[in-house]
Amino acid sequence: MKKIAIIGAGRVGESTAQFLAQSDLVRELALLDVREGAAAGAALDIQETAPLFGFDTRLTGSTDPGVIAGAELVVITAGLPRKPGMSRSDVLDKNVEILDSILVDVVREAPDSQILVVSNPVDVLTYRAWQKTGWDRSRVFGQAGVLDAARMATFVALETGLSTRDIHTLVLGGHGDAMVPMLRFSGINGLPLHYFLDQAAIDRIVERTRHGGAEILGLRQTSSAYDAPAAAVKAMVESILLDQRRVLPTVALLEGEYGASDAAMGVPCVLGTGGMERIVELDLNAEEQANFDSSLAGVQADIARLK
Ligand code: LAC
Repeated sequence: MKKIAIIGAGRVGESTAQFLAQSDLVRELALLDVREGAAAGAALDIQETAPLFGFDTRLTGSTDPGVIAGAELVVITAGLPRKPGMSRSDVLDKNVEILDSILVDVVREAPDSQILVVSNPVDVLTYRAWQKTGWDRSRVFGQAGVLDAARMATFVALETGLSTRDIHTLVLGGHGDAMVPMLRFSGINGLPLHYFLDQAAIDRIVERTRHGGAEILGLRQTSSAYDAPAAAVKAMVESILLDQRRVLPTVALLEGEYGASDAAMGVPCVLGTGGMERIVELDLNAEEQANFDSSLAGVQADIARLK
C-alpha cells in the first residue's frame, strides 16, 4: 500500500499518524480534519520528526476531503470523545452524524479503500460504515479488542510481575462494560492463568479490563486514552499492510457467526492484504456464550437506534 488516510486529527488520530510514520510502513499518510489547521499542523509536526526517527513517510493534512484521494486504507478516528461519567453509547447520535458525512467523502475520494473504524461507539459505527457504504464486510471493520486485550495483558503483567512478552490475552464482544475477557483463551506462554494468579486476582483483572477506558478518562478528565488505542490501530494496520495475517480481535460484521447476525462486534479475525480475511469462530462454552450474548444485546440495542 502506498497511501493511508486518517480522518480526525485529534489525539488518537495524531498518535496513530506518529506511530505509523515512525514505522515507515507507508509512503503517504494523509490527515483530514474539519477543524482549520488541525490536520495540517499535526502532519507538519510529525513530518519534522522524520530526520530524528529516520522515516520517509510523507504527511499531508487538510480540511479538504480531496487530501484522502486514492487512499487504500482509511482509519476513522473523528468524533466526539466521551466525558467522565458518559458511556460510549452516550456519544452515539452525534458520532453517527459525523461518520455519515465522513463516509460520503470516503466513498467519493477513496472508493477502493478498506475502512478501519476507531471512533466510538465502535461496534455500532463499524456497522454503520458497512451499512452506508454497502461494501463487502472484508473491507469494513473496527478496532477495539486489540486495545482491550493489551489492557488485559498489561494487568496480568502487573499482577504477576512476569514479562508482557509471554502474556497473551483475548477479549471478545462489544467495546463496552459488557465486553468479554476470555480467560480460557488467555495465558502465559501457553500456560493457563490460574497457574500464576488466584481467583481474586483474575477477577480484578477482568473488572479492570472491562473499565479500562473509563479508568484513563477518570484520571485524565479532559481526554480519553489515545496512546494505547493508537498502538492498537498500528498493530492492525501493520498486519494488513505487510500481509502478516495475524489473528487479532477485530470488530467485524457477523453473518451468523457466534449465533449473531446483522450486528458488528469483536471476534478473532485474520487481518491481511484482503482486510478482514476470515472470522475465527471459537467453540464457546455456555457461560462464555451467555456473556457474548449479553454484550451483543447491548450493541444490537444501539444498532436499532440507527434505523
Ligand atoms: C477506550 C476508549 C477510547 O477504551 O474507547 O479508551
